[in-house]
Amino acid sequence: MSSSDGRRLSVSLVDVAEGHEAEFQTLSTHFEALVIRKEYGRAETIRDEASPRRYYAVRYWVDANAAERCHRDPEVQAIIAKLYQVARVTHVVHGVRRLDATRLLLDDRRAHIEADRRSGFDRRIKNVGRAEGDRRKADRRLGPRRVRDRAGEVDLIAAARRAREHADAAFSHFKVGAALETGDGSVITGCNIENATYGLTICAERVAMFKALSEGHRVFTRIAIVADTESPTPPCGACRQILWEFGGNLEIELANLKESKGKHHLKNLLPLPFDARLL
Ligand code: THU
Repeated sequence: MSSSDGRRLSVSLVDVAEGHEAEFQTLSTHFEALVIRKEYGRAETIRDEASPRRYYAVRYWVDANAAERCHRDPEVQAIIAKLYQVARVTHVVHGVRRLDATRLLLDDRRAHIEADRRSGFDRRIKNVGRAEGDRRKADRRLGPRRVRDRAGEVDLIAAARRAREHADAAFSHFKVGAALETGDGSVITGCNIENATYGLTICAERVAMFKALSEGHRVFTRIAIVADTESPTPPCGACRQILWEFGGNLEIELANLKESKGKHHLKNLLPLPFDARLL
């Protein structure tokens, strides 16, 4: 969405949970005032007249830097964290991407890693070493944690809880929600969708990953998985494979409707992975 004068536009689709409209309006008003006060640009919230509780959050950035500063602003992050408690947010137009040098570096590294993991040729030509997750540990400084460990980071669990409400689990009645964070800070959600032939059922994690891939994302940092169970619900074997192949050693946070049930790294859930490096 870049234009010659540097101005950028971002648009998100916001589905507000029933009973939380007033809270959402307050958050929107605060956000709109903040964006003007700090000279990031202008924001407006447009109601979709055709569907109740659906809004379009439109941000007109002064320029790409202003957008990036806004995303890093702790006051903004606090509002966004609250937003994820009351609404499902889908990014429709990404006005600003990959401006941050660290993220660029991360993307660049991931791009190379991905080439290793997904093209079997590399392995036949030269010994590319251990599995992708192991190799990354050596230069951990550049790893995703550094990018993400900030106060007010997006509440992925809240996003996964909201996504779970859309689960179509007519046969198992076991609803699952997932929220996948990408390298540029976007959150892509998924829920399980079942099928009368059972075998065509798809888990929340794979829905989130395939949605993200289909929107062009290729860099992933963490995923939250939520089910309404006392003990944690870890990803199934098929999902572990897909998450590994496309996301690498993701941080996985499991939660139920009330609390977090622990964090894991995918490498530990899939210790001896098969991937394209072995082809
Ligand atoms: N399911 C998920 O969506 N994710 C998981 O991590 C575990 C299982 C779904 C698949 C199916 O629709 C239902 O939960 C019961 O297995």
